[in-house]
Amino acid sequence: MLTEEAEQNGFKKATSVYLTQQVARKGRRTEFKQTLLHGEKPLLETMILEDGSKLDFEILPMAFFQPNTLQAEILYETALQLGDISKKDIVFDLFCGTGTIGLFCAHKAKRVFGVDLNKNAIENARNNAKTNNIKNIEFAVGDTLKTVSGRAEKPDIVIVDPPRAGLGEKLCEYLLKIKAPRMVYVSCNPTTLARDLKQLCKEAYTLETVQPVDMFPHTYHIESVCKLVYNH
Ligand SMILES: C[S@@+](CC[C@H](N)C(=O)[O-])C[C@H]1O[C@@H](n2cnc3c(N)ncnc32)[C@H](O)[C@@H]1O
Repeated sequence: MLTEEAEQNGFKKATSVYLTQQVARKGRRTEFKQTLLHGEKPLLETMILEDGSKLDFEILPMAFFQPNTLQAEILYETALQLGDISKKDIVFDLFCGTGTIGLFCAHKAKRVFGVDLNKNAIENARNNAKTNNIKNIEFAVGDTLKTVSGRAEKPDIVIVDPPRAGLGEKLCEYLLKIKAPRMVYVSCNPTTLARDLKQLCKEAYTLETVQPVDMFPHTYHIESVCKLVYNH
């Protein structure tokens, strides 16, 4: 229950309440068990970009979603502008989470393929495609490198948005092998971004743009969006 004063101050009612239990056993991976105590199973969020595209997203609690929705709209707008996607383009959205970036790309692209390790996130991504009536997108659950290595189709543009650990040597090697003409790298960690860019730009790619986005105001964290172009 919200008091009248709280409502006047812009507070909103919680729509879902989950109990999360962290089960840690020696020698085993920590498990998180979640129980819905009240309300709807997925959380709901709507995002609107400057070009007018508006998408609705469902999010399960164990799936990743950018915590600052207003700045995330700017982040995705930046990624889309730098990607400069056209109807001829096949787009890979690697580390796609609930499908956000790929779904915003879909109406500009020929086809989009998204992959994420988290099965809850991919369940959301597939439902998000249906809810928003987007048909030219496909999602897979799995490790990025293993999943894309097995795909015959080659992308015109690769968008990556990895966790703080970055892409790593093996995935960069794979990206260098497939030679996508354009790449957009969304990063939440400048250190691993610099390491990966050094490998990608050694011979094959030119770093054209780096645009910081302040996703976490009043902290030292910074998100960066980079555009890389393949050297022919
Ligand atoms: C920074 S989030 C980006 C999600 C999404 N692009 C967004 O903006 O909401 C990174 C994502 O990478 C996924 N992930 C982490 N390691 C992975 C791996 N090895 N292969 C595929 N996905 C992975 C996580 O589950 C998480 O959804």
